Amino acid sequence: MVIVPPAAYGPAMKPRVLVTRANFPEVLDLLRAHFEVEDNQADEALDTEALRKRLSDKDGALFLPIDRVDAHILQGSPRLKAACNVAVGYNNIDVAACTTAGILVTNTPDVLTETTADLGFALMMAAARRMGEAERHVRAGQWDGWAIEQFLGQDIHGATLGIVGMGRIGQAIARRARGFDMQVLYHNRNRVPEETEDALQARYVSLDDMLREVDFLMLTAPYSAATHHLIGAPQLAAMKPTAVLVNLGRGGVVDDAALVDALRAGTIFAAGLDVYEGEPALHRGFYELENVVLTPHIASATRATRIRMSMTAANNLVAALTGKRPPNLVNPEVWDRRRQ
Ligand code: GLV
Repeated sequence: MVIVPPAAYGPAMKPRVLVTRANFPEVLDLLRAHFEVEDNQADEALDTEALRKRLSDKDGALFLPIDRVDAHILQGSPRLKAACNVAVGYNNIDVAACTTAGILVTNTPDVLTETTADLGFALMMAAARRMGEAERHVRAGQWDGWAIEQFLGQDIHGATLGIVGMGRIGQAIARRARGFDMQVLYHNRNRVPEETEDALQARYVSLDDMLREVDFLMLTAPYSAATHHLIGAPQLAAMKPTAVLVNLGRGGVVDDAALVDALRAGTIFAAGLDVYEGEPALHRGFYELENVVLTPHIASATRATRIRMSMTAANNLVAALTGKRPPNLVNPEVWDRRRQ
C-alpha cells in the first residue's frame, strides 16, 4: 500500500483556474478563496497559442468576449471542466465542442440588461440628433453661431421603433421607448407572451414589415448562423431614408460593408454602432462617415455592471468546480450527463 503523506494534499490539490485578462481585485479574491488562480493583471493580450499554453493545466477559466475558445484551444486543455464567460453573449466559445468535451459553459445574463439598454438608447439618440458630428464641429472650433438648418436630425419622441431580438435587453429598450411615446414593433425568433406584449405595448411583426415601417431599428440579437447578415443591402434598401439603425447585439448580424454603402448613399439617415464584424478592426468606411456614431463595444461598461458581470462569472466558476450546478449554464446537457 502506498501511504500518501498529508503534505501531498494541500494547495496543489486546489483546482487551477485562469483569469485570461485583467479583472477586479474582489473577483480575484473570491476565486483565490477556492482555487489556485493564474491571473493576468498586466492585461497582456493572449494570442491563440499563449491562451492554449496557459489553459493546458487549468480546470476552469474566466473568459472575456475577446477570447476565442475553439476546438484547437480545447484540444490543448485536457483538464478543463468549466468555461465561464464574462458576457451574456457567448459566440466566442464553441459551445458544441465544449459540450462534446464535457465542459460546462456559463454566461452572465440579467446583470447587464439595463446598462446595455441605456447605451442602446444613447446610441439611438446620438445618431438621430447627430451628436458625434455636432460635437466634432464644435471641438474643431468651426461653430460660428446658431443657424436655422444647422445639424437637423430626426425626432425620437413619437417615432416608431422596431426591435429585433425581444429578449431581456430588447424588452428593456421597449420600456424606455414608452417614456418617449414611441410605437414599438418587434421581431423575434418566437413571439413573447401576450402579457409581455401588452405590458410593453409592443406589436409583433415580420422583419420585412418592420423594415418598411420603422424610424428606428434596434438590433439586440445574438450572432449565430441564423442571424449572420440578417441586415444587408436588401434590408437596408427597404428602410426609410430617414431611418436610424442601431447595432447593440453582435457584429456580423449586420453586413457592415452594405451598411457603409447605405450610409454613404443616404439609403438610411444614420447609424449607431457598438459592435462590428471582425472587431476591434472595423470597416474603414465607417471612419470617413459623419452619419455614424461609433462606440467600442461598451454597452455594459459601467463599473457597477462590469463588477456584477465578473462576480456572476466567478460564482458560476466556483459552482462548476465545487460540484454545484452553475446558475447560468448555457449547456445544461453536460450537467445532466454528469448526474447520470
Ligand atoms: C457583451 O457583449 C456581452 O455579451 O455581454
